[in-house]
Amino acid sequence: MEDKIRNILKDSLVKIKGAKIKSELNDLRILLFGKKGQFTLLTKELKNLAEEEKKKLGQLLNEVKEEIEKELQKNLVRLEEKKESEWVDVTAPGKKPQIGHLHPVTWAIREIVPIFEKLGFTRVSYPEVELDYYAFEALNMPRDHPARDEWETFFITDNIVLTPHTSSGQVREMEKGNLPIKMLNIAKCYRRQADVSHTPMFHQFEGLYVDKNVSIPHLFGTLDYFVKEFFGPERKVRLRPFHFQFTEPSFETDVSCGVCEGKGCKLCKEGWLELGGAGMVHPKVLKFGKIDPAKYSGFAFGWGVERVYMMKEGLKIPDLRILYENDIRFLEQF
Ligand code: PHE
Repeated sequence: MEDKIRNILKDSLVKIKGAKIKSELNDLRILLFGKKGQFTLLTKELKNLAEEEKKKLGQLLNEVKEEIEKELQKNLVRLEEKKESEWVDVTAPGKKPQIGHLHPVTWAIREIVPIFEKLGFTRVSYPEVELDYYAFEALNMPRDHPARDEWETFFITDNIVLTPHTSSGQVREMEKGNLPIKMLNIAKCYRRQADVSHTPMFHQFEGLYVDKNVSIPHLFGTLDYFVKEFFGPERKVRLRPFHFQFTEPSFETDVSCGVCEGKGCKLCKEGWLELGGAGMVHPKVLKFGKIDPAKYSGFAFGWGVERVYMMKEGLKIPDLRILYENDIRFLEQF
């Protein structure tokens, strides 16, 4: 019985010192001194012993009990103090979680779309991995046509490309068979170009309007409306003759410089900043889209999203590739 008592003592002290929360100590106390606790049972057993033994073990039992009690108290204080240092002020203002923001290109797209929606254009999207047919052939650029060189295309197979421009949506849209057409196709485009002013992936937004009696003034009016809404009411648009295989006539479009208002300055040199291509849809392209060019005509334009956004904000990004490097130090500046 003496061994038993000493073992209980040893065991209890280890448990008490190792306790991590107050309730562990309370549980231990019940296990030892509760109604059916180890000490209570031992005290009962004492009764059956001889007088001599009873006296000796009774004393030991008391001493051990006292020691355990002392240790329990000590550790109760220890855990109490620990709790205090971990105290949480639930009324203190919380830490603000870091929230990011949309990528500038997404902002630009969200600005561009409603402007064209007001004119009745509907946003659509077409495959980024596209058939050569829609990217080139149906746009009046047969195989081996030198005009294709402009598009520095990534080929997946002989017939499949990463679409190098949003114009690949033109004939796809015509094939839907719903006339008139007023589509706005915004998509990622891919070209094998990577330098300070080119990223191999970029975005274009393309408008296509096909109806009866569509003419150049419609194109001009649409672009003028966009430019005034997007850049500001004082800005003007200009069409310059150009060449594309899929439009006739074709234009390069410019917007008047926001700094000098078209007079010419250090930024623009000649008063105008280049925006992108446009033109009247080539009759051959209409035919590829199963539309009769004798009855219908249309215009199309395709501009770079990154380009118009930077022009609007007056951003001079020395190396465009940083737009897609996901460097937080760059993106946080927006
Ligand atoms: N797809 C042409 C380009 O990527 C732009 C364009 C679109 C030109 C529509 C004319 C009509 O440069």
